[in-house]
Amino acid sequence: MLLNIKNLHVSIDGKEILKGLNFSVNKGEIHAIMGPNGTGKSTLAAAITGREGYEITKGEIIYKGQIINDWSPDKRANEGVFLSFQYPIEIPGVSMTNFMRTALNASRDYRKLPPVSAKDFLKKMEEKKKLVQIQSKLTNRSVNEGFSGGEKKKNEIFQMAMLEPELAILDETDSGLDIDALRIVAGGVNQLKSDENAFIVITHYQRLLDYIIPDFVHVMYDGRIVKSGGKKLAMELEEKGYEWIKEQFDA
Ligand SMILES: Nc1ncnc2c1ncn2[C@@H]1O[C@H](COP(=O)(O)OP(=O)(O)OP(=O)(O)O)[C@@H](O)[C@H]1O
Ligand SMILES: [Mg+2]
Repeated sequence: MLLNIKNLHVSIDGKEILKGLNFSVNKGEIHAIMGPNGTGKSTLAAAITGREGYEITKGEIIYKGQIINDWSPDKRANEGVFLSFQYPIEIPGVSMTNFMRTALNASRDYRKLPPVSAKDFLKKMEEKKKLVQIQSKLTNRSVNEGFSGGEKKKNEIFQMAMLEPELAILDETDSGLDIDALRIVAGGVNQLKSDENAFIVITHYQRLLDYIIPDFVHVMYDGRIVKSGGKKLAMELEEKGYEWIKEQFDA
C-alpha cells in the first residue's frame, strides 16, 4: 500500500476539521475526492503534504510503510509526495528553467545522486514540455509571474511531470481551465500514470473525470469520507447533488 490513512483527526487553530478519516491508496490507482465546499478536502491534501498549521491530534498517515505524521514537508516531497498547489507563488527573476533545475537537483541530492547534466536536463524539459504542450515562452519567463490562471495550472502539471512523484495530489486542477487546457492537463496525467505511482484528484465536477478516469471515487462530508465507489458514483453525485449525501449524514 502506498498511502494508508487511519482515523485521521486534524485541527486548524484548535478547530477540528478532519474527524476520523480513513483512506488508502495503492500504486497504479487514481482516486477522485469530491464533496461540498468546506468539508475538508484541501485540509486532507495539506495534511498529507505536511503543511504547517495543520495539527494531527489523532490517527496516522502511513506512506510507503512508515508513519509520516512528524515528517517535514521537504522530506515528504523528497520521498515523492507532490501537491499541485505546492508552488503557486510567483518568483520574480527566477526562470522556470532554473527553478526546475534547482528543484530536480535538490531531489537528486536527497537520493545521493549527482546533479543532472545540462544536456540531460534540457532533454527532459523538452520531453515534459511536449506532454503538457507548454511553450518555451512560458518556461523562459519568471516562475508564474504574470501567468494566467490556466497557465499556472498547466505549469503545475509540468512541474509534476518533471519531478515524477510517486504520490501526486491535484487539488482542483480543473478550476479555471478552458476545455482545451483541461484536455491537455488530463492527457498529461494519463501519460504520467504508471504502475509505480498514484494520483489523488480533488474536484467538484464530474467533467474532469471524463478525461482522468478514476479507479475510485470518494465523497467527503464533515471531515470524513462517507461514501466510496467507482466512477459511477461521480455521475450519481452530478445527478442528485450533495443534498443526497447531506440527507444521509445529517441525521
Ligand atoms: N487556515 C484556516 N483557519 C481556519 N479555518 C480553516 C483554515 N483552513 C481551512 N479552514 C476551515 O476548514 C474547513 C475545511 O476547509 P477545506 O479548505 O479543507 O475545505 P474543502 O473541502 O477543500 O472546500 P472547497 O470545496 O471549498 O475547496 C472549512 O470550514 C474552512 O473554513
Ligand atoms: Mg478545497
